[in-house]
Amino acid sequence: MNKMIIDCDPGHDDALAILVACSEKHIFDIKGVGTVGGNHHVERITDNARLILQTIEEKIPLFQGCHKPLQRELEVQPHAHGDSGMDGLAEIPEIIYPVEEKHAVEAYRDILKTHKDVTIAALGPLTNIAMLLHLYPEVKSSIQCISLMGGGIHHGNITPYAEFNIYADPEAAKMVFSSGVPIIMSGLDVTEKAYLEWKDIEPLKDCGAVGFFSHELLKFYHESGKQFGFDVSALHDICAVAVISRPDLFTWEDLHVEISCEGITRGMTCADRRLKPSREGKVRVVMDVDQKAFAAYVLDCIRSYERK
Ligand code: BDR
Ligand code: CA
Repeated sequence: MNKMIIDCDPGHDDALAILVACSEKHIFDIKGVGTVGGNHHVERITDNARLILQTIEEKIPLFQGCHKPLQRELEVQPHAHGDSGMDGLAEIPEIIYPVEEKHAVEAYRDILKTHKDVTIAALGPLTNIAMLLHLYPEVKSSIQCISLMGGGIHHGNITPYAEFNIYADPEAAKMVFSSGVPIIMSGLDVTEKAYLEWKDIEPLKDCGAVGFFSHELLKFYHESGKQFGFDVSALHDICAVAVISRPDLFTWEDLHVEISCEGITRGMTCADRRLKPSREGKVRVVMDVDQKAFAAYVLDCIRSYERK
């Protein structure tokens, strides 16, 4: 069993990543879900997370985390995820899923004081994780790895050079990447190849309540992706979960990666890919995925809710 914390900012692909992780009961033991300001303000993000967990009838404790990046103002992403941060649902039920009182950073500390070998799946800006490592460095030894969605070796999305999660809080990313904790980085190199096509999404509407929920979210996300030139739905955040549950689907390189915090390259994940790099590659950078197998896996996870 992989003990796991999910730190997220749902977000359509965060929602799907949570669905995938929570469907894998024999692989993941999810100790807590925390939210962070990113795609939207944290209060809204927390409500989105409540709705996701309520829809799949989970009982995992949910914690609200940091409102804003360490040193910057939050720049939300309504163009990608809509005004609610998770648009597309025709009917939203009353949200009753509870939020714990503890701040996410304190909750993560407590989980890591109780459990060893915990994987943190980080699906949004790295603010909560940087705070955790800064305030409570003693918990580092309990973290098996931080599997994060962020960055990209070859290109960005929010700027030509930077991916949104790293760009949003580059100072936090810098702290995390230099922390010494093992990192698996699923950046745009792989996440843009981890997609569903419309022909995959369409039939989900007849696959029970969770299939229907996924279909509505993915329908919006699929349309929204077109403004950025995509005709498929890249499910970025799922990679940070699936690389743990299905490593056989992915390939990677171990590289030295540094974060740029300023100027035109703000948020860039700068990797040393020379044949003889001057520093040992300690970040596992996921580069490729078997798209067909990935899509089949994701669809199977969604459909598994109907069988429960
Ligand atoms: C990342 O940004 C967010 O909009 C997505 O949820 C994902 O985590 C992709 O750049
Ligand atoms: Ca996200």
